[in-house]
Amino acid sequence: MSRPTTVGDYVLGSLIIEGKTKQVFDLKDHPDLCMLISKDRITAGDGVKAHDLEGKAAISNQTNCKVFDILNSVGIKTAFVSTASANAFVSRKCAMVPIEWVTRRLATGSFLKRNVGVPEGYRFYPPKQETFFKDDANHDPQWSEEQIISAKFNFNGLTIGKNEVDIMRRTTILVFEVLEKAWSLRNCALIDMKIEFGVDTNGNILVADVIDSDSWRLWPSGDKRLMVDKQVYRNLTSVTQSDLDVVKRNFTWVRDQLDFLKPEVPHLVAVMMGSPSDKEHCQKIAKYCRQFGLNVELRVTSAHKGTEDTLSVLRELEQRQGSLVLIAVAGRSNGLGPVLGANASCPVINCPPPSTSMSQDIWSSLSLPSGVGCSTVIYPEAAALSAAQIIGQQDYMVWSRLRVAQLEHIRTLKKADVEAQINF
Ligand SMILES: Nc1ncnc2c1ncn2[C@@H]1O[C@H](COP(=O)(O)OP(=O)(O)O)[C@@H](O)[C@H]1O
Ligand SMILES: [Mg+2]
Repeated sequence: MSRPTTVGDYVLGSLIIEGKTKQVFDLKDHPDLCMLISKDRITAGDGVKAHDLEGKAAISNQTNCKVFDILNSVGIKTAFVSTASANAFVSRKCAMVPIEWVTRRLATGSFLKRNVGVPEGYRFYPPKQETFFKDDANHDPQWSEEQIISAKFNFNGLTIGKNEVDIMRRTTILVFEVLEKAWSLRNCALIDMKIEFGVDTNGNILVADVIDSDSWRLWPSGDKRLMVDKQVYRNLTSVTQSDLDVVKRNFTWVRDQLDFLKPEVPHLVAVMMGSPSDKEHCQKIAKYCRQFGLNVELRVTSAHKGTEDTLSVLRELEQRQGSLVLIAVAGRSNGLGPVLGANASCPVINCPPPSTSMSQDIWSSLSLPSGVGCSTVIYPEAAALSAAQIIGQQDYMVWSRLRVAQLEHIRTLKKADVEAQINF
């Protein structure tokens, strides 16, 4: 493969490493980044089977860039920075953890050989997570958590211990669940997949390497016979040009389907305040909502003093397209939430503003007439989380951001626990 000197605006430095399917280059002026250039090469069986496949580099690279764009959009920590050309992308430069992190929803392939008696199609919930040491010569042996910890890997100053393994395991499952939901939008079942992690120059664990049609089993309509992933190539005993054409057509189809996996799901969270004096509290709610990618609108309406207007605003919001969640913010006696709850068919969440008389005022939100339903929280973040949980039922990207936030809480707690043991 000839060696380019520039890709897009980037000047290439030295070749860091070359593997079976790509080359990794240093970048002049960007010591923390690198360029990954794909090759027109398809391989299987730890590289024993290998063919040139014209156009494969671009298809793989474009697939990878779209997948990582989804992961970055929902807040998963990845090494992917940007697309650089048809067959190259810029990544954070990582010391790579030599482990393949596999997640399975259905039992198939090598799992069946290693777990005799389990029928093909056995469904795992939560998804089954397995780890394999990257070692082509020994056919990537399966490794336990204890083996990974005992290897005492150290990359860019970070030792891979129990906490690090746990975070990578949880992230692996999350990446699978996010992409499983994404693919379900095209009625495709993600059966299993593998990812790799790297440690960047600042010691952060990131999802790295690539995710493309080589990384997963993907069955349209959940039907194994319709598979569109690299298994088609693995299964070939002799490989003809027309076989390679089928593989390429499948990979191209997958790349093109990815354009539909970041849909705009119409929805609105309307923060209804009884008085403009509640503005600050409402802006906090809106800020938290936007962190989950929610569309938010702030409105002022008083159910006590402007009852007709309140119902008119409600009807206006209800005729818009998509899911609607109302967050009612009213101090003292909360007429607003219960009136909305009594007249709306969408969820209504009360989030009264902070006040010294909160312990008495809260009863106007809690003790509702029969036939009226609305829920009550007192913190702006809790109101936003509840709204995101509702919208996330239809919008997998919102759902994913909630899951990422939950994982970040675990990461923060683990870090605090380590620091407490040293400093407290
Ligand atoms: N962000 C990154 N920084 C540094 N190296 C990377 C990064 N992403 C992937 N790599 C490494 O690039 C090399 C080439 O990839 P590939 O051709 O898939 O190799 P292999 O055949 O070993 O799987 C691998 O060693 C992989 O770990
Ligand atoms: Mg590889």
